[in-house]
Amino acid sequence: MKTSAWVLYRAGADGLALDAPGRLRLEEISLPELGEEDVLAEPLCGSWEANMTHALERSPVDIVAARGEDRIVLGNSGLLRVLRTGPAVTGLREGDVCFLASCGKADRRGYVEQVHAYDSPGTMGMLAKRTVVPARVLAPLPPGTRHDLRRWAACARYWTAWSNWRLAYGTWRLEALEDEVPYVLGWGGGVSLAQCELARLKDGARAAMAASSPGRLALLESKGIHAIDRSAFRDLQYDEERFHTDTTYREAYRAAEQRFLSIVDQFTQGQGASIVIDNIGTPVHRASLKALARGGVLTTCGWKHGMTMKYYRAIACIKRQQYIHTHAANPREVDSIVAFQERHGWLPEVGTVTPWEHIGELSTAYATGKVDGYFPVFEVNAA
Ligand SMILES: NC(=O)c1ccc[n+]([C@@H]2O[C@H](COP(=O)([O-])OP(=O)(O)OC[C@H]3O[C@@H](n4cnc5c(N)ncnc54)[C@H](OP(=O)(O)O)[C@@H]3O)[C@@H](O)[C@H]2O)c1
Repeated sequence: MKTSAWVLYRAGADGLALDAPGRLRLEEISLPELGEEDVLAEPLCGSWEANMTHALERSPVDIVAARGEDRIVLGNSGLLRVLRTGPAVTGLREGDVCFLASCGKADRRGYVEQVHAYDSPGTMGMLAKRTVVPARVLAPLPPGTRHDLRRWAACARYWTAWSNWRLAYGTWRLEALEDEVPYVLGWGGGVSLAQCELARLKDGARAAMAASSPGRLALLESKGIHAIDRSAFRDLQYDEERFHTDTTYREAYRAAEQRFLSIVDQFTQGQGASIVIDNIGTPVHRASLKALARGGVLTTCGWKHGMTMKYYRAIACIKRQQYIHTHAANPREVDSIVAFQERHGWLPEVGTVTPWEHIGELSTAYATGKVDGYFPVFEVNAA
């Protein structure tokens, strides 16, 4: 069977220069045979995710080459409708609408090692009119849900947020006083937003988050999250080499860091942040550590702008600070997450939906920071 898909080639395989960033191309592809435990599905709508941009930018690696393939179909978050099931599939029928859960390969506890339709070889995602996926990566929508399907389509980062928050908050709680209420501070991004919301909703935390556009700042405030305007400290972009060699840069950085820390000081009434959510990485890591209270937790599941972090073990020990690292949610967590979402409406806010034909343009807009909300949704087939 043939279908139309937005594909990404490995570097050098699409006629572009080896070091050029990848581009999505709309092409006809052949679908693989339906295996015993596979499902033929039609993607309905999906959410553009940061890892799709990492794949296009081939940063930190050329994911297509790493999978040993020439071209792949990305898209690890969204909703699909079941069209046909392989003979060994149970519990799914034609017409069922399901989430695509991102677990490509898991460890013995069920935690994700490779992401479906990203770094897991041979997997196919949402960017195709028809797709073939193993039944185990599908999870059913809550029957009769009261929430808009487009919001559910974008909720994979809420699941990641849940898994990370569970560990970060649990760790902080171990040493906190019984009546202590945490101050949570998040850097930008959809996962961070989901965590700040969850921190308030589930655990009564006071949350603040940085953002740089008026739309995002207003969204944060509307959710009861104290909005920190990042444009007030634009020069907070740490670069160790420049810090040691470029005086003008160092002074600008220090002034920006000072502005940021005084905002944190005000928000936390001088105590420092109990939990800092940092999915950005190197440019903000130094400031994240300075913002952290004694007994604080620095938590991450992302490395948008840099994977390398330097910290002083002695200081972390003396201040009893903990560092949490997680990846996507465990499929075993999904049922309780979805039940919580249905009950409390803990779901992303979704704006205009990008039509199928314009997905290539969406990928460019996202890469150049021209998407205003946090959860850009695209349509593949009508729901
Ligand atoms: N492990 C997992 O399962 C998992 C799941 C999802 C995402 N992730 C990773 O987590 C990271 C964040 O993803 P996301 O989807 O939450 O974020 P996102 O929606 O892509 O947004 C990141 C935001 O961070 C802010 N930002 C950008 N550069 C910055 C800088 N230098 N300093 C401070 N803030 C900056 C920008 O917002 P403002 O300009 O408004 O501040 C930007 O929109 C990505 O690397 C992604 O791959 C991991």
